[in-house]
Amino acid sequence: MNQLICTECRRTYSLDEPRWKCDCGSLLDIQFEANFDLAKIRQRKPTMWRYREAIPIKDDANIISFAEGFTPLIEVDFDDRQVLMKQDYLFPTGSYKDRGASVLVSKVKELGINEVVEDSSGNAGAAISAYCARASIKCNIFVPADTSAAKAAQIQFYGAKLNKVPGNREDTAEAVLKAAKKVYYASHSWNPFFFQGTKTFAFEVCEQLGWKAPDTIILPVGNGTLLLGAYIGFNDLWHARIIDRIPRIIAVQAENCAPLHRAFRENLARIPKIDKKETLAEGIAIAEPARGKQIVAAVKQSRGDFIAVSEREIKESLLEICRKGYYIEPTAAATAAAIKKYLPQANHNEVIVSVFTGHGLKTTEKMLKLLKD
Ligand SMILES: Cc1ncc(COP(=O)(O)O)c(C=O)c1O
Ligand SMILES: [Zn+2]
Repeated sequence: MNQLICTECRRTYSLDEPRWKCDCGSLLDIQFEANFDLAKIRQRKPTMWRYREAIPIKDDANIISFAEGFTPLIEVDFDDRQVLMKQDYLFPTGSYKDRGASVLVSKVKELGINEVVEDSSGNAGAAISAYCARASIKCNIFVPADTSAAKAAQIQFYGAKLNKVPGNREDTAEAVLKAAKKVYYASHSWNPFFFQGTKTFAFEVCEQLGWKAPDTIILPVGNGTLLLGAYIGFNDLWHARIIDRIPRIIAVQAENCAPLHRAFRENLARIPKIDKKETLAEGIAIAEPARGKQIVAAVKQSRGDFIAVSEREIKESLLEICRKGYYIEPTAAATAAAIKKYLPQANHNEVIVSVFTGHGLKTTEKMLKLLKD
């Protein structure tokens, strides 16, 4: 049965209902039978929409796309070995968030909605803005006042209304929830359709490996849109009997904002309140992730682990990766730093996949400051 289902009270709703949370106030997931016709997929264009039968949009006419996805998976040297890195900083808006935005905004169009609100540290807001522009949907983005100037400019250039909220990321989340009482909330953390887009990360990785799952994937986590999306995607492939196991998921947080790392390490039933400090990795600086419990459960179920990285490690990795020719933003460098920490414990023949999530051009002012320091 294809439907929305509440993560707490298990109430179900039709996929055609314009809702992003349960009446009980809890998060919704999507139950959807994803199908894969490998022969058909092979013949289609190299975009994330080649997995058409695995994405819950009914009518092709509603698909909002810039022919995004199917990003290269290439070997990158880390110390003395190679890791397969998905080049998701090469998406149209400069981050992997386009995966989620393409599916979510397609669904918004399918629902006949003509205005949305969204909150973001910048990249998800830019992605939702671009896809809303393509769909002629009015878009209001809430960001923390200190968001990177380049991300704020990008959102405005796409024609969205930018609302800068004083205070931290949590204050921004609170402000948007008020706005979401009146306007549909195209949230990358709450709205389950976003994850139906980010799951294509897993499909592409498996196809690029000859329809095999890697042994390990190393992913950054703030709100978990990529991590949970990938987990859903690998599960879709497993249910369809295309892969025979789910990879171990290694989740990456910045030490300065690592509530999930702590919940995992200390085996806590709830995500703890933390004393958040500033971090170069602005994209994963989420102190209170809405899907925190789900993220920790997914990592546990995959027999995975959490790695936290320091500011020094993020900075060093950023400089090292950029010198190899990959101009990534500091948030993406946090993942690279975690790869370096993980590798000493990896097996010789372990197939490890990770990702460059965001483009360096998004954070020019931070990059310039790092050059001076
Ligand atoms: C560049 C980059 N990498 C990783 C992430 C982490 O994504 P999530 O919060 O969905 O876990 C973000 C989120 O904004 C990001 O912008
Ligand atoms: Zn409920």
